[in-house]
Amino acid sequence: MTDATGTAPDGQTRDSTQSRDSTQSRSSTHGRSSTPGGSGGEGPGAATGRRTGGTPRTAAAQHTAATPHTTASRPPAGKGGSGLGRPVDRVDGRLKVTGAARYGADHTAARLAHGHVVVSTVAHATIRSMDTRAARRSPGVLAVYTPFDPLKINRAGVLGPMRAPLQDKEVVHHGQPIGFVVAETFEQARDAAALIRVRYDERPAAVSLEDGLPGAREPAHVGGEPAVVTVLADGVASVGEALRDSEVRIEAAYTTAPQQHAPMEPHSAVAEWEDGKLTVRSSTQGVAMLAADLATALDADPADVRIVSRYVGGAFGGKFAAYAQTTLAAAAARDLGRPVKAVLTREQVFTATATRPGTLQTVALGARTDGTLTALRHHCTSGAPVGSETVEAGAHKTRTWYACPNSEAAARYVPLHIAEATIMRAPGEAPGSFALESALDELAVRLRIDPVELRIRNHAATEPGTGRPWSSKHLVECYRTGARRFGWHRRDARPRSGTDGDWYVGTGMATAVFPALRFPASMKVRFRADGTAEVSGSTADLGTGMWTVLSVVGAEALGIPAHRIKPDLGDSGLSPAGFVGASAGTSSVGAALLEAAGAAKKALTDLAVRHPRSPFRGRDPEDVRYERGRLTAPGGPDEDFGSLIAATGRTGVEAEGSSAPGEETRRHAFASFGAQFCEVRVHRRTAEIRVSRMLAVMDTGTVVNAKTARSQIMGGMVWGLSAALHEGLHPDDRGRYAGANLADYLLPVNADVPEVEVVFLGHPDTLHNRLGARGVGEIGVVGTAAAVANAVHHATGKRIRDLPITLDRLLE
Ligand code: MOS
Repeated sequence: MTDATGTAPDGQTRDSTQSRDSTQSRSSTHGRSSTPGGSGGEGPGAATGRRTGGTPRTAAAQHTAATPHTTASRPPAGKGGSGLGRPVDRVDGRLKVTGAARYGADHTAARLAHGHVVVSTVAHATIRSMDTRAARRSPGVLAVYTPFDPLKINRAGVLGPMRAPLQDKEVVHHGQPIGFVVAETFEQARDAAALIRVRYDERPAAVSLEDGLPGAREPAHVGGEPAVVTVLADGVASVGEALRDSEVRIEAAYTTAPQQHAPMEPHSAVAEWEDGKLTVRSSTQGVAMLAADLATALDADPADVRIVSRYVGGAFGGKFAAYAQTTLAAAAARDLGRPVKAVLTREQVFTATATRPGTLQTVALGARTDGTLTALRHHCTSGAPVGSETVEAGAHKTRTWYACPNSEAAARYVPLHIAEATIMRAPGEAPGSFALESALDELAVRLRIDPVELRIRNHAATEPGTGRPWSSKHLVECYRTGARRFGWHRRDARPRSGTDGDWYVGTGMATAVFPALRFPASMKVRFRADGTAEVSGSTADLGTGMWTVLSVVGAEALGIPAHRIKPDLGDSGLSPAGFVGASAGTSSVGAALLEAAGAAKKALTDLAVRHPRSPFRGRDPEDVRYERGRLTAPGGPDEDFGSLIAATGRTGVEAEGSSAPGEETRRHAFASFGAQFCEVRVHRRTAEIRVSRMLAVMDTGTVVNAKTARSQIMGGMVWGLSAALHEGLHPDDRGRYAGANLADYLLPVNADVPEVEVVFLGHPDTLHNRLGARGVGEIGVVGTAAAVANAVHHATGKRIRDLPITLDRLLE
């Protein structure tokens, strides 16, 4: 065992590594395969030795394969001959398109029983009785659990406590889990569930954010911040005063609709107990977090809970917590002594998991006539499920976007009978940017200043409030590059100035900012005697491309082709690599992987100079160099790592490396930046809205994989388009969502999505991490809805301040 301390070139990261040269991996919590899944046939390139889609083509072929819209215009930050930044196919692509990749509900087990979640049909009530007699007599039924005959489950919640299902008789939202039927087959469980008679003492439900405004409350805190954050220049008493003293003032109210993450893959769990230890296969953004959550819920030792989640069919923030199907399946499996699978129906996904609540925001801007901001007041009120203080932090998350001497961001919430609230792609920034960036556009129109120019005039050279310098900020380049590529200079600023037959044609733009975070992570690198290298950790691939990131970064770090990298992830038995969220997956895991690679090379060298059968035996370790998969020494041997390890009779040499944010976060502010541009066409008579062009120019640091990075940004932009024009949960008076299914919950389809161009500036941010990469998962959605709404205003002269922008709102 050797210890080494890895220090980043900039000396600013606090990283550590641990290595070992034994053939034994760290013991898994279940004493099973020490590399769960990696050689177990579940990951890309595992088991069969097939090169499952990960074979890199030549650089030229890859560029041909890329779409013409992908641009990584700068050389990546990596060391010479870097593989970073090229468009690389997903290494798990073939497994996915052939159906070989198994998602949560694809798993099975011997003697598997099937659970069906029963949900409430009212939004606010006390359950008086549940008649389960017919259900219990129904064929194949093994158990019926209700609040009258419950499984014991504790309140848990990695992102704030979620309700524990079945623990009391109070119903606080429509579609709340109130029962669980377990049977031999899925159909038997479902049919029996339909026989349960529930009697409610129903009470009126509060589901309207607007109606509830008089009862709005202030949360104890918003993230780590107070509910109201005020920044004032010397001698200014209040933001109200600064607004009053401003040469120009605008103020408006904006609303955004509640949303559901609506992942393609519904939430599920397959739970199995063996010798007091629990294994759950369930799609999640963090296997270790889910294991902790589940251990709390079930009074189990966290070390006895293993979560496996190799493929995730979309998450977007909605797959962190242990939702009812997971806790109920695990508790029932323990109770029945049989494995239990539970899958939410599509409609249940809308109510038994969590949502992004709707917001009502007011923005007041004060400015000089030249456009310089003098005051900014942004208040955001969101719906919160009864018993929770969760807020959608629209104002807090956007308050540092512009240089403005006086600002006030405030959050409030209105308790409503709605499903649990949680984070959703760009929580806070997505709805917050709609309000702020619409208001900026309104100010630009009022002052007759070009919207791009207005934003450049208010550019924040340092982080507002703290004055910290940005680690790397090229937002002005985003604006300028975007304006040039989009043909912005040809724009006639007058509303309704552009027409094409019966269509008004308008353009709009907005700023995008998203914090660049990273979290502590540990990864493992294992050189194997067969010449391949395992790269593993308990991270997740949400469909975002993490499998491929591990391959690309692993290949880069070890100087060998990507097809010799065997990635593994999505198992809580692997090195603790953290969760994937807040767009921090690649930067957290990538940084740890570089540390692990360094430590593994050192472990390999140590073995080479010590082992009796090594040709390097007795050499000074300082003389032995690792390069491109080979060890060399001056005038001495030149050996591939695989044959060296084979010569020693071992199967592998491995090391773990860790990385965490450190001092750098005190000295600098870290964020990604972008500019969104959009062109819409609105029909003169029907008000039909078609988005015809979208462009994003992104300053997100080094691009690791141009192909999946583009997909991430494009996906985010489609989300923004969706929020702008389509999406929204609409509860009826009794709190039932109309359209809680993928047919009626309007999401864009291909016909709704135009040409989408994504440009990456590619300036490495090496203060953030050694890769220079910042996250790309969420910033794509930020600002997009405002760009669409601003384009609609330019096209029609109508300012729609409520999302989604439906035809009736335009025709009014
Ligand atoms: Mo993201 S909303 O942190 O998954």
